[in-house]
Amino acid sequence: MNAYIDQHKDRFINELIELLKFPSISADSAYSQDVLNTAEAIKVALKNAGCDSVEICETPGYPIVYGEKIIDSNLPTILVYGHYDVQPADPIELWDSLPFEPVINKTDIHPEGAIFARGASDDKGQVFMHVKAMEYMTVNGELPCNVKFMIEGEEEIGSTSLSWFVERNQDKLANDIILISDTGMISNSQPSITTGLRGLSYVEVEVTGPNRDLHSGLYGGAVANPINILTKMIASLHDENNHITIPGFYDKVEELSLEERAEMAKAPFSKENYKKALDIEEIYGEKGYTTNERNSIRPTLDVNGIWGGYTGEGAKTVIASKASAKISMRLVPNQDWKEITNLFKSHFESIAPKSVKIKVTPHHGGQGYVTPIDTIGYRAASKAYQDSFGIVPIPQRSGGSIPIVALFEKELKSKTILMGFGLDSDAIHSPNEHFGIFNYLKGIETIPLFYKYFTEMTLE
Ligand code: BES
Ligand code: MN
Ligand code: MN
Repeated sequence: MNAYIDQHKDRFINELIELLKFPSISADSAYSQDVLNTAEAIKVALKNAGCDSVEICETPGYPIVYGEKIIDSNLPTILVYGHYDVQPADPIELWDSLPFEPVINKTDIHPEGAIFARGASDDKGQVFMHVKAMEYMTVNGELPCNVKFMIEGEEEIGSTSLSWFVERNQDKLANDIILISDTGMISNSQPSITTGLRGLSYVEVEVTGPNRDLHSGLYGGAVANPINILTKMIASLHDENNHITIPGFYDKVEELSLEERAEMAKAPFSKENYKKALDIEEIYGEKGYTTNERNSIRPTLDVNGIWGGYTGEGAKTVIASKASAKISMRLVPNQDWKEITNLFKSHFESIAPKSVKIKVTPHHGGQGYVTPIDTIGYRAASKAYQDSFGIVPIPQRSGGSIPIVALFEKELKSKTILMGFGLDSDAIHSPNEHFGIFNYLKGIETIPLFYKYFTEMTLE
């Protein structure tokens, strides 16, 4: 490991632990002051790391923390993006320690320890790698190019204010490449660079039957039960091969060539370990595709929440007046999220029996993204990983979504490189989220190497 990082690693870990204590939950307005305090803490950290100017940029929602160090306008500029907001911590009872009181524990995958806290991996820990990499470069006189930081507070709720901000600040944000650490890699012994993200369409549906809850004996069998109807409608959205049945849903899906699929299949994957890690007897999914294809290059439809009727203790014989569900569709490049949202809405309305009323409410969404690998950005990142890990990283398409990446390309006309250091086992969005100390420090070590190679290759 690099001597400076080795010497300062305990402080780097403690500073991250302090940042993780802020409950910056953007989805829950009860935490709005904490979200604002987190922005302030990021601003101070960027200043201390050597940014010449830092500011809290107000938006209609949560602010964006912006910082920069411009050393020479003839040199390339890297724009670092990340988010300081986190997902809600519930169900809190499933955490082994409190979500905003970080602890370090060893795990099988992380024998040198991992920091357990909400946001440890997604995305405060990964944002902080960039802050500490910046400190390393400025203290050691190794910053080779200009750098801009843009850290937002609404990623987990759809980045609405960031779109607003990016559209209004094209000049301020001008850059040669956007660098993001908000994804994962295959494993600590096989680094990978994320080359794709899925898009997203998120909708809520409500089925209304009778105008009030009814006695299920007096009315049962004679009126439509919204929960029965909703579950039947949802079940019909997949056929026996687990294909999605919405007409037109697959029309624009990019089909990968057999060569590309064969290339993907080279990434190490153990079905047995996968099943063991999740405690499942068998894998599941769309016919004709492997697990790694199902969760990256194929679109999906999943119910994320469903409610209605009586769920308290004991039994209550009732037919609820309403039933609802939240549904997310992960999309692949070329599928347009607004178009898919409309297809969903028309189809869902069309399959409802006359005995119920249907309401479909679209939430947020975004486009998918694929990055080419024949770019300076990818080659520089690859070289950086080779230096720090001693292994050539594999390109890997991820199933997750960062909808703002497609918008960056449209508004700022630059490509994004996704250098994520998390692991699937980090339990992001789940109880016991954690980030390996190894991953955190490797990130801090790899990032300056990327700056160096990217600058060299750009100037060549
Ligand atoms: N960092 C994640 C996305 C991610 C994680 C991508 C791991 C690839 C690998 C991000 O914070 C996130 O959670 N995105 C949301 C979408 C957003 C619109 C709420 C998601 O993917 O569910
Ligand atoms: Mn994230
Ligand atoms: Mn997230």
